[in-house]
Amino acid sequence: MGEKEIPGYTYGTQAVAKSPVSLEDFDLLKKTVLFTEEDEKYLRLAGQVLVDQVEDVLDVWYGFVGSHPHLLRYFSDLQGEPDSSYLAAVRKRFAQWILDTCNRAYDQDWLNYQHEIGLRHYHTKKNKTDNVQSVPIISYRYLIAFIYPITATMKPFLEKKGHSAEEVEKMHQAWFKSLVLQVTLWTNPYLRQEDY
Ligand code: HEM
Repeated sequence: MGEKEIPGYTYGTQAVAKSPVSLEDFDLLKKTVLFTEEDEKYLRLAGQVLVDQVEDVLDVWYGFVGSHPHLLRYFSDLQGEPDSSYLAAVRKRFAQWILDTCNRAYDQDWLNYQHEIGLRHYHTKKNKTDNVQSVPIISYRYLIAFIYPITATMKPFLEKKGHSAEEVEKMHQAWFKSLVLQVTLWTNPYLRQEDY
């Protein structure tokens, strides 16, 4: 599916507001997680490795969420029933996000869309994109905790295309750093701005 056909995927459009985090502050965040041009290079390689495995990765992540009621509730309606069309709609944007994480330049448009993703996990925009009735916010603690499974489960997929152990490790570290950067940006709406 081309990205233009993904419902609710508004990357790079006027519908996305400017991030409150400046490119200068983002640069300091990158320095803080030791994110360098080498990581960009290994993310591009990961993009090539993952491009035909995206659905398999999502099967693992959706299996993980689906088997944990305390996580599945965020995709459930107000009676507590999982909303399969909500799950499916988000899955398409999730697939695109894997490729964006690997292939996009981390520029102003990218920064802006990170803020948008943060808002979509927060009260401001959760449920609005897919016009669903579900719990109003993803709890902050799970946003942070999710970094671990979304990183750990990636390793076997990065190993699948015959790269050396060293290359796999570099791809994995780059993915981990990018996730920490992104989730740090996503938590902005959850905090008082003077504390961020
Ligand atoms: C939306 C990734 C944490 C539930 C999304 C999207 C992505 C994503 C890529 C779609 C963004 C878009 O609309 O373009 C992640 C990552 C996480 C994380 C990488 C942490 C490392 C969580 C947790 C939950 C969760 C812990 C709870 C189970 C959701 C829901 C949506 C969503 C319900 C749809 C929000 C809406 O109504 O628009 N997530 N997520 N996410 N995520 Fe997360």
